[in-house]
Amino acid sequence: MGWTMGLATAALFVGLAMVATGSPQMTCAPEPVNATDTDLCNGLEVTYPEVGNIDCKVIPSCNGYRKKITTWSQPMVKYPMASENSTYMLVMVDPDAPSRASPQARYWRHWLVVDIKGADLKKGTVKGQELTTYEPPTPPPQTGFHRYQFSVFLQDGKAISLLPQESAARGFWGLEQFLIRFQLTNPEARTQFMTQNYEDSPDVSPEPAPPAQGVSAPKDKLKMSGFAFLVCVHLAHHL
Ligand SMILES: *[C@@H]1O[C@H](CO)[C@@H](O)[C@H](O)[C@H]1NC(C)=O
Ligand SMILES: *[C@@H]1O[C@H](CO)[C@@H](O)[C@H](O)[C@H]1NC(C)=O
Repeated sequence: MGWTMGLATAALFVGLAMVATGSPQMTCAPEPVNATDTDLCNGLEVTYPEVGNIDCKVIPSCNGYRKKITTWSQPMVKYPMASENSTYMLVMVDPDAPSRASPQARYWRHWLVVDIKGADLKKGTVKGQELTTYEPPTPPPQTGFHRYQFSVFLQDGKAISLLPQESAARGFWGLEQFLIRFQLTNPEARTQFMTQNYEDSPDVSPEPAPPAQGVSAPKDKLKMSGFAFLVCVHLAHHL
């Protein structure tokens, strides 16, 4: 009996260890933005380390991602439909500065790159003339979720520059007037992601993923819990 118990105890620990290590990875994945915020989901991929492509997703609060994204350098931005021989402009803004409820400082210019070759953008390489260097999302505490919007415009043949007063500050940027100045009205592709200040986001495992995303997670967890339960019953039987 000593041998059986030892084996059963070992199995129990293996089972519990699998439950403990298996679930956080499976549930700490970016979830889609709310349905009301999907209007900009159109043909662009934005990829950061660890979280992957966050095209129209919310940066999860688990694994310290909302803190990490404030330190990561520029994401990979990929426009698979880019035309190889064209040039493009990339704009990244926060329309929710300082908050979505009171965006007096709209738009906050996070990144502005012109003269990007289509062949590069097609591969996810943003190489061109940086009119504004990349600034990571750092939403202030207590200001809720901010949207970070990326747009790609066909630039072909246009010399684009910021006015001195535009270069002087990132905030209060008149994006609409800027676009009108260069007759750039319709972006070729767009997307956005959302995050909020990490101090406002307890670093805990998120709610179980919706069925469409995490079909296998709850099932696996259940299976392992069932296994641990059987081992317990087996153990109790021997006591
Ligand atoms: C999604 O909508 C709910 C309900 O309005 C809101 O509480 C939540 O903050 C929204 N999430 C995001 C990321 O905007
Ligand atoms: C791009 O330009 C090259 C060289 O002129 C040409 O061979 C190629 O067919 C062009 N590609 C497209 C997609 O127009």
